[in-house]
Amino acid sequence: MSTGNLDFEQFRVFLEKACGILLGENKQYLVSSRLNKLMEQQGIKSLGELVQRIQTQPRSGLREQVVDAMTTNETLWFRDTYPFEVLKNKVIPEFIRANPGQRLRMWSAACSSGQEPYSISMAIDEFERSNLGQLKMGAQIVATDLSGTMLTNCKAGEYDSLAIARGLSQERLQRYFETKGPGRWAVKPAIRSRVEFRSFNLLDSYASLGKFDVVFCRNVLIYFSAQVKKDILLRIHSTLKPGGYLFLGASEALNGLPDHYQMVQCSPGIIYQAK
Ligand SMILES: C[S@@+](CC[C@H](N)C(=O)[O-])C[C@H]1O[C@@H](n2cnc3c(N)ncnc32)[C@H](O)[C@@H]1O
Repeated sequence: MSTGNLDFEQFRVFLEKACGILLGENKQYLVSSRLNKLMEQQGIKSLGELVQRIQTQPRSGLREQVVDAMTTNETLWFRDTYPFEVLKNKVIPEFIRANPGQRLRMWSAACSSGQEPYSISMAIDEFERSNLGQLKMGAQIVATDLSGTMLTNCKAGEYDSLAIARGLSQERLQRYFETKGPGRWAVKPAIRSRVEFRSFNLLDSYASLGKFDVVFCRNVLIYFSAQVKKDILLRIHSTLKPGGYLFLGASEALNGLPDHYQMVQCSPGIIYQAK
């Protein structure tokens, strides 16, 4: 594949416009390793030709395939532990006190292959087991991602031993999964039924999403420019009910927006409360 400077620049502009992902100037290697196969299959010789093909054949599905290939889908169960503990020990009890008899509505905003929303659903189950009858109307988790491949995996809810080994205790595996064959497990229906998967690009309109009590937007804003990140954080704020909580990735921070969010120190971990 030819990755001349001009071609690469054209591709960078296309990708940021399509999904917000900002490529560093030295990422030619990453791009070729992720797109080589697809471009070979399509007989496309350069990134410039690829961008042109996407523009002249908008309904070919090529745009979606390229964006899908360029996303980083790294994830694991109960990532960083503290968000799920904070959810059980602080956020859900507060929600019940402030909204008795209401259903908790949550959004997992870049859910990758499903580990995050299914971990949230398991955490809710754990809360319900030790606080019987308190979350009377239960909880709904809307889980979205832009990658079609990831959403197909999420909906299947099946994982191999490699994925299962990352962050899941034996106890949770026994309780919340059923065996599907050698080295394959499926999330049990009681955990799946709380989660509704939808395709959603964080750059699109948020109007159809409704309002949430809690938003997890973890380990995705790091791929965006400061301006796109700020814009998304403002739009997430507009989906949060007043007093609702935002969870970011462990290495991510809000940096500003003091009129919209208040930082809440949870030791360990920081979350943000919508003003
Ligand atoms: C590294 S994963 C994070 C998964 C999970 N939130 C976690 O923390 O483990 C980032 C996900 O963001 C998704 N993504 C990237 N750009 C996006 C966009 N513009 N809209 C929606 N999802 C996007 C990718 O497809 C990928 O699945």
